[in-house]
Amino acid sequence: MSLPAPEAKREFVERMFDEIAPRYDLVNRLMTLGIDRAWRRRAVRALHVGPGARVVDLGCGTGDLIAEVERTGAGVVGIDLSAEMIAFGRKRLAGRSFVRGDAQCLPFPDASFDGAVSGFALRNFTSIPTSMREAARVLKPGGRFALLEVNVPSSGLRRRLFELHFTRVVPLIGGLLSRGFAYSYLAESVEYLPEFGRFRAILEEAGFVDVERRLLLGGAAQLVTARRAPAGRIASLPGLAKAR
Ligand SMILES: C[S@@+](CC[C@H](N)C(=O)[O-])C[C@H]1O[C@@H](n2cnc3c(N)ncnc32)[C@H](O)[C@@H]1O
Repeated sequence: MSLPAPEAKREFVERMFDEIAPRYDLVNRLMTLGIDRAWRRRAVRALHVGPGARVVDLGCGTGDLIAEVERTGAGVVGIDLSAEMIAFGRKRLAGRSFVRGDAQCLPFPDASFDGAVSGFALRNFTSIPTSMREAARVLKPGGRFALLEVNVPSSGLRRRLFELHFTRVVPLIGGLLSRGFAYSYLAESVEYLPEFGRFRAILEEAGFVDVERRLLLGGAAQLVTARRAPAGRIASLPGLAKAR
């Protein structure tokens, strides 16, 4: 399938996640064989948050990262574009804070969170720079950001295995249990991901410092961490005007 044009992407993504929401958790577990749980724990550890802290989960889906952040004792608000993903999240995690909204225009005041996480949502955002500026805006100076995404491995064999899994196995499982077109899109949507050097620049322009990346599972996934520039360094950041 071809990827949607930029002006159609937001609506396409919202509709697609609404359609796959009923089986999203099941397909996800089968596709990753549960390996993603360890990645999520690692992402949350990188936030260095504990009781009393407030964390936002961007593109929270049905709440896997919300549940993981809660183990630290921090409070979490999840935001997601898809009403159906949120509805399933609310069934799974009753009483938690799920907000329907767009990561490109967060309905939260400046500097209102101690940490931010995002799991496998980045490539679905309509504008990656805009959503990263919003993430920086709602974080307190010094607040940490931990973002998980898939990654296309650079080496030959790993790359071929990744492509086999992502372009054959994932759409097959998705087609049997859910909506095949959506899982074909999710495989192809890795094309939206900027290479790391470019992504680091986007994060720094948005107002982040200490941007680091760890590759997971032989490079099939990545954990990117960053810190909102501390107050003293904010004034000198080029992206600040846009981040505020
Ligand atoms: C692949 S799912 C990941 C869900 C969850 N974070 C996880 O780790 O399982 C991507 C999620 O991002 C949401 N999403 C996509 N674009 C969004 C946007 N612009 N604003 C907020 N959420 C968005 C989708 O609705 C979907 O629930």
